[in-house]
Amino acid sequence: MPKQGEIDYVSKLAPTEIAHILNKPFSDAKCGQYLMDVGLILSLIPPPPGRLLDLGVGPGWTSLLFAQRGYDVVGVDLAPAMIELARENQVRAGVTNLQFQAGDYETLADPRSFDIAVFYDALHHAEDEERALAAVWLALKAGGVCVTAEPGAEHGDDAGARAAVARFGVTEKSMPPRRIIEVGRRAGFTSFAVYERPTSRLLAREPDRWRWKALRRAIGAIVKDPWRAFVARRQALAGSHLVVLRK
Ligand SMILES: C[S@@+](CC[C@H](N)C(=O)[O-])C[C@H]1O[C@@H](n2cnc3c(N)ncnc32)[C@H](O)[C@@H]1O
Repeated sequence: MPKQGEIDYVSKLAPTEIAHILNKPFSDAKCGQYLMDVGLILSLIPPPPGRLLDLGVGPGWTSLLFAQRGYDVVGVDLAPAMIELARENQVRAGVTNLQFQAGDYETLADPRSFDIAVFYDALHHAEDEERALAAVWLALKAGGVCVTAEPGAEHGDDAGARAAVARFGVTEKSMPPRRIIEVGRRAGFTSFAVYERPTSRLLAREPDRWRWKALRRAIGAIVKDPWRAFVARRQALAGSHLVVLRK
């Protein structure tokens, strides 16, 4: 019963763990990465005003940031206890252009009523991602965009993910761009773009001291080494990258 595992998740947490999720992203060691991800999402979506559907919101921190940016936000989570935490966060932040609802992102109501939908670290918990992306396609207006930020191809076998499945009975799947695009196409989305998460390469390499030099190196690499470019593209489709799907 993986959906029941998601619903019961909060009830199995220790008070310190609840405090941790309630204070996300600032309580988390990956805070910088989270904020850079949200910065990239905000740079990729149309600017406010607009109606934004935030899916699998947990304690609601992404919804708060989107609302503070100026969108009218509806934040949905399957777990009523998560929605309670999210509402507590909303009261604390004093944000009003935001509504949290307990609900299943695989069966959304309100067709054609949102400009933007976001799955932040949440689609890989779907029991049925085909239903989830089909529901989001319906919920979006014509030309609307859906952004996903999900773990990559190895997540399903990751030790942390397996520990979460054992402890909480939740769903943990690999959800690389390749899978999201394949399912999104069947759902009716017509265009797809994949973006590397800001932290993944930035932190793994030496800083570029001369930008033009780095650009020349990148262009040179593509021209001289199409094989390497092909491999990089394949890695992107398997990695933990952002995907923008357009209706
Ligand atoms: C890994 S948590 C991420 C939460 C939040 N986005 C964050 O970054 O803190 C995944 C969330 O997806 C929610 N979820 C799982 N299946 C869902 C479904 N079918 N419909 C709505 N929410 C779901 C879970 O309850 C959980 O809060």
